[in-house]
Amino acid sequence: MAAEIAQKTHLIDQHLAEKGLPFPSFDAAAPADTKLPPTWSKRGYQSCKQHKNVDESWPAAGKVVDALKKWPQAAEPNETGLSLANDTDKPFYAVLAQYPQRAKRFGQAMSFFTTGDGYALRHLTDGYPWDTIWHFQELPEVVANAKPEEGLNVEFMTHDFFNEQPVKHGDVYYLRWTLYNWLDTYYVRILRALIPALKKGARMLVMDFVMPPPGVLPNGLDRKLRAMDLTMLEIANAKERDPEEWKGLFGEADRRFIFKGIKQFPASRLAIIETAWEE
Ligand SMILES: C[S@@+](CC[C@H](N)C(=O)[O-])C[C@H]1O[C@@H](n2cnc3c(N)ncnc32)[C@H](O)[C@@H]1O
Repeated sequence: MAAEIAQKTHLIDQHLAEKGLPFPSFDAAAPADTKLPPTWSKRGYQSCKQHKNVDESWPAAGKVVDALKKWPQAAEPNETGLSLANDTDKPFYAVLAQYPQRAKRFGQAMSFFTTGDGYALRHLTDGYPWDTIWHFQELPEVVANAKPEEGLNVEFMTHDFFNEQPVKHGDVYYLRWTLYNWLDTYYVRILRALIPALKKGARMLVMDFVMPPPGVLPNGLDRKLRAMDLTMLEIANAKERDPEEWKGLFGEADRRFIFKGIKQFPASRLAIIETAWEE
C-alpha cells in the first residue's frame, strides 16, 4: 500500500516540481498516527475550524474529481464536490442556511480567521482612518449570531450582496474575504450590485489573499495558500486570484471602477485591493 501511494504521489510531486509549486504533497514514509491532535477536543474557534474541515471541506474534497467529470466547465457554484457530497443543487451558503447548527459552527470557524496576527483586523484599522459609522452586512443566519462589540459605531444589517446595495453614498465599501468564495462571473455581479449606491470618489476595499507566483512565499505558507485555492474549487468552483486577475475583474464589472493598487501589510496574510469609483 505504502509503495503504491509512494509511486502515485511521486507523479504528483514531479508535476508540482515542474510547475515550481510547493511540495511534497504526501509523505508515504511518515509513521501512521490515528490519534486526533489535542486541539480538536478543545472548545472554541479551533475546534469549530476542525469541525468545518471534517463536515464541510473534506467530504467536498473527496468528490471534487467526480464533480469535474460531471461538470467539466466548473462554471457554477452549485456544481461542485460539495454539491455531490451533500446531494444538493444548492450552492454552499444556501446549504449552510438549511442547517443552523452547521451555519453557526462555520461562522465560529470563520471567527478563528480574525485571531492571530496574520488575520488581525488591525491591518485594516491601522491602515485607514475610521471615524464614522460602519454598516456590517451579512446573511441573516450570520447577523443572528453576531454580537456588536461595545464602543464601536457599528450597525448590523442583513444584506445579500447580489442585491442592490441599500446603503447609498458611502465613502468606503469593504469586502473582507468574501470574493475568493465566488467564480469570476459572480464576483462581477457582486461589484455591479454596488454601482447604484456609489458616489464619485467612493472607494472599494477588497481584503483577500493575493496569490503570488509559485516559490515566492516560504514553502509552508505557499502550500496553505494553494490548499485554500483547491478548497475554493471543491466548495464553490472558485479560486484564489493573482494581482492581474483581481484588477481585471473590476474593469470587467464596469470601466468606471479605477484600480488604485494593492497593499500587502508585512505581517498580514490578506492584502487590500483598492479601487475608486469615477463617474
Ligand atoms: C469566508 S467568510 C468571511 C467572513 C468575514 N467577512 C471575515 O472576514 O471573517 C465569507 C462570508 O461571506 C458571507 N456571504 C456568503 N454569501 C453572501 C451573500 N450572498 N451576501 C452576503 N454575504 C454572503 C458568508 O455568510 C460568510 O460569512
